[in-house]
Amino acid sequence: MQFASSRIPSPSHRASERPDAEASLILVHDGNGLERTVAPMLRQNYATSLIDLQRDAITFSDRALAVVVCIDLGNPASIKAIRDHFVDHPVQVPRIFVLPNGDRRSILQAYSSGAHQFMVSPVTPREIHEVLTPITNRSVEWQWRRLSETQQAALRISLKLFEDSQTSVLRGEGLEVSTAARACSSVISAVGHEGFPALLNELRAHHNYTFRHSMYVTGSLVAFANVLNFREEDMSLAAMAGLLHDIGKIATPNAILNKPSRLEPSEWLIMRQHPLDGLSILKRNGDWPEPVLDAVSHHHEKLDGSGYFDGLSGDSIKDLTRMVSIADTFSALIDKRAYKPPMSGKEAMAIMLGAEGHLDMALVRAFEPVALAIG
Ligand SMILES: [Fe+2]
Ligand SMILES: [Fe+2]
Repeated sequence: MQFASSRIPSPSHRASERPDAEASLILVHDGNGLERTVAPMLRQNYATSLIDLQRDAITFSDRALAVVVCIDLGNPASIKAIRDHFVDHPVQVPRIFVLPNGDRRSILQAYSSGAHQFMVSPVTPREIHEVLTPITNRSVEWQWRRLSETQQAALRISLKLFEDSQTSVLRGEGLEVSTAARACSSVISAVGHEGFPALLNELRAHHNYTFRHSMYVTGSLVAFANVLNFREEDMSLAAMAGLLHDIGKIATPNAILNKPSRLEPSEWLIMRQHPLDGLSILKRNGDWPEPVLDAVSHHHEKLDGSGYFDGLSGDSIKDLTRMVSIADTFSALIDKRAYKPPMSGKEAMAIMLGAEGHLDMALVRAFEPVALAIG
């Protein structure tokens, strides 16, 4: 894999907004065959639309995250179509070319046709993930500018919390309670003003998995706390428990966290360490509320004692921790992963209603308005 990240543009010259369009990747090809292997790999992680130069004009939504180009660089008609659009056209979307080989001529041809970055065939799902994730995350974050100030604050402050935590945790440092509290109050405001589904829609295409998942959990917990008429103080505890419940995954190797298929038993053992890692990260620094520490360490416990890490059961699992388990299960079900499609809120609700012995059924039933709100 080779790339030149300095050529990636700031996505600052897009045409008029179409906020209803889904954030997606565009794969432009000319039927030379490369697209048959690349398209399924892209679709593992992204909504992807194909443009066939043999019959389609190059048009796409302003919410396109990036354009992947798979064309025969020796085909003058394909080169002309690409250059006409990408070299002369004012719309700037990151463009990644997949080249049949890494010879100098192909690379020069790609750059002169408007490439910002390139990959050399045969590409692997891992290479695609490594190249596309930072590019598409930047596009998703850029698109947040059209949201309300409250929503932008919730997304940007929380993302910064996760990015900064990554650095400080790897240095052996802890997290600041006040920084987490600020992120929590921004999410509470955004969910209160615009609702949980609106926030969720802006996270779907973001590929920092721990950030995205933690925001799903926090947003659904805040919406749940609203349904249960929580006082302000308890609402803040619920938000903090949601935001930090998987903070231990910062210590989980990326190869396991982002594995595009189901985990092997040995990998599961490592993944299951994250509640303990989360607890030790929080205990490095600050005076964290006890219910938050409990939720971080026990959100994978089950009422019948079959969960982890301490095998707690029944009344020894606290109320807030039970709520986090429900929001966590729900968020995993409605999220898209490489190995599974997303479920609707209704489908997720049906699965959770069948989890008697694992989840608190009275709370699951009370969660129903939150689940059905996302459609
Ligand atoms: Fe977890
Ligand atoms: Fe989780």
